Amino acid sequence: MGITVTPLGKYLGAEVNGIDICTPLAPDDVATIEQAFLDCQVLRFRGQHLTVPELAAFSAHFGDLQPHVQRKFQHPEDPNVVEMRNYDDDGNFDLAAASRGSMERLRDGWHSDLSYDSVPAKATLLHALKIPDRGGNTVFTSTHAAYDSLPDAMKKRLSGLRAEFSYGGNTRNKFTNLAANSLDKASRESTTVIHPVVCAHPLTGRPAIYVNPLITVRILEMGEAESDALLDELYDWIDRPEFQWEHEWRLGDTLMWENRGGSMHCGRIDYPRDQHRHMIRTTVSGQPIEAHVTA
Ligand code: OGA
Ligand code: MN
Repeated sequence: MGITVTPLGKYLGAEVNGIDICTPLAPDDVATIEQAFLDCQVLRFRGQHLTVPELAAFSAHFGDLQPHVQRKFQHPEDPNVVEMRNYDDDGNFDLAAASRGSMERLRDGWHSDLSYDSVPAKATLLHALKIPDRGGNTVFTSTHAAYDSLPDAMKKRLSGLRAEFSYGGNTRNKFTNLAANSLDKASRESTTVIHPVVCAHPLTGRPAIYVNPLITVRILEMGEAESDALLDELYDWIDRPEFQWEHEWRLGDTLMWENRGGSMHCGRIDYPRDQHRHMIRTTVSGQPIEAHVTA
């Protein structure tokens, strides 16, 4: 049986079946997955339980893996695998840890990974080890569809604009600072980076809204009030339900998502707080973000 790719959401998300991801992949299968990744931005592999080395080996088919900047999140078996837990060493709910990539209000938490880095990630892979009885979904929004549906006047207004991105330095979003609390001082203060407000995907060229409420501080080409208002308008837009697809976790699920433009994501913190959520994660290195400029 060959690989099958079945779309899940209207604009993004697809389930990939007919492939064993616990063993080395044939080059043709890697190429099929890469194409599905470009077409659908988020891929789901279901019903396959991965060990730490298996997740790392599967992920490495798609590029170089990047260890987490902070040692305390690195998995003891492999520095390229990141631990994502919502509880501390005593098993108690830890809001700062739970807030890494997740938010009570999605509107404040949309992001793509490593947008605070000069070279954001290509892909993130997340595999579920422990999930709550209910809630704790990961939600995706298509920032390609969001951009495409903007009025032409807005597309013109956004063309050529650049924005500042910062993890610990984003004073606009108090929730970011909560998540950033779990980072050490050096990571929190790592230099601010500049990316375009609208990017073009490096391989497909498709435009996407790139600014996000979690990490973007301000648009460079305007004053603070105008920048705040414009960013709020864009965040309300990408938050529209019609662009979203929501993944409900089952044990044995692995997701792989795009961070170079086209998709943003946010986890939900809506589960009973005494329930454990534990994921392992890898990050595949990307390339610099390119600007999309309208004619
Ligand atoms: C991440 C992330 C969301 C989640 O790992 O980058 O944002 O649902 N995770 O855990
Ligand atoms: Mn994330």
